[in-house]
Amino acid sequence: MPRALPKPFAQLERGRIRLRFFHGDAIDILDRLSPGSIEAFVTSPPYNLGIRYRSYDDGRPRPEYLDWTGQWIQAVRRAMSDDGSLFLNVGAKPKDPWTALDVAQAVRPHLELQNIIHWVKSIAIEKDLAGARAGLKDDLAVGHYKPINSRRFLNDCHEFLFHFSKHGETPIDRQAVGVKYQDPSNITRWEKAGSGRRCRGNTWFLPYDTIQSRDEERPHPATFPWRLPAYCLRLHGTDRVRVAADPFLGLGSSAVACATLGISFVGIELDAHYLREAVARARRALDSKGSF
Ligand SMILES: C[S@@+](CC[C@H](N)C(=O)[O-])C[C@H]1O[C@@H](n2cnc3c(N)ncnc32)[C@H](O)[C@@H]1O
Repeated sequence: MPRALPKPFAQLERGRIRLRFFHGDAIDILDRLSPGSIEAFVTSPPYNLGIRYRSYDDGRPRPEYLDWTGQWIQAVRRAMSDDGSLFLNVGAKPKDPWTALDVAQAVRPHLELQNIIHWVKSIAIEKDLAGARAGLKDDLAVGHYKPINSRRFLNDCHEFLFHFSKHGETPIDRQAVGVKYQDPSNITRWEKAGSGRRCRGNTWFLPYDTIQSRDEERPHPATFPWRLPAYCLRLHGTDRVRVAADPFLGLGSSAVACATLGISFVGIELDAHYLREAVARARRALDSKGSF
């Protein structure tokens, strides 16, 4: 029997939806969840790239960091249902390009790598290459990224989103994040699919919202936009998720996604300042939804 959960830092409820927020260490709280009780994890751990968080030291020796990664992944595995999903977002930096792949390797002994998704933060598409049907009037460059001033590195406009599962056979709902068929030559496939939608593939363009003041609107050095966890949960299948979780909650993007989609949620965060902001964001998302 796992140890009892501590009192949540905050709990939000709306109808059958319950969002619980725990202030503490990810492994400690994960170990207290009932085994198999979480259908979908969406998370982004610290990347160990020297990012300046308020409490956490993001500059541990690499072997120690990867060993810790294996430990929290095992805690996730215990809490995950048999056909659950872990969507694991990891970035890198140009001078340390192996980070994301090293993290994926640390997960490898414990979970199957089912899909690799590229979270595209910014993209440039030439009008001519998009083709006439796209209707572009000019070349397109959209999204946000941190520009790098360098003679050898490209601007970093993507991050990895690894989809892990226990057996590599977790069913997914490709149409839930699908795109409309556009090419009339695909009409037979369109009819077969029935929904008029095809699989989006594994490149997801999900830009950050445009903000005026980072300190006020996004007071955290490494967030993902809430649509990223929302896409992950829809891909897993919202009707197959009783409870989702994010053990490294930050400003609560995963909680906002769950509040928006009507999914119960467990969030864990070491830093009380980030956690307070996460709860406030989730509350706003829940309030703007009314009832489910
Ligand atoms: C990459 S950020 C997550 C950001 C989040 N996805 C968002 O959109 O806001 C990682 C977070 O993990 C937290 N953290 C670091 N070590 C932790 C631990 N052992 N347990 C729980 N949270 C931890 C950090 O404070 C940081 O906010």
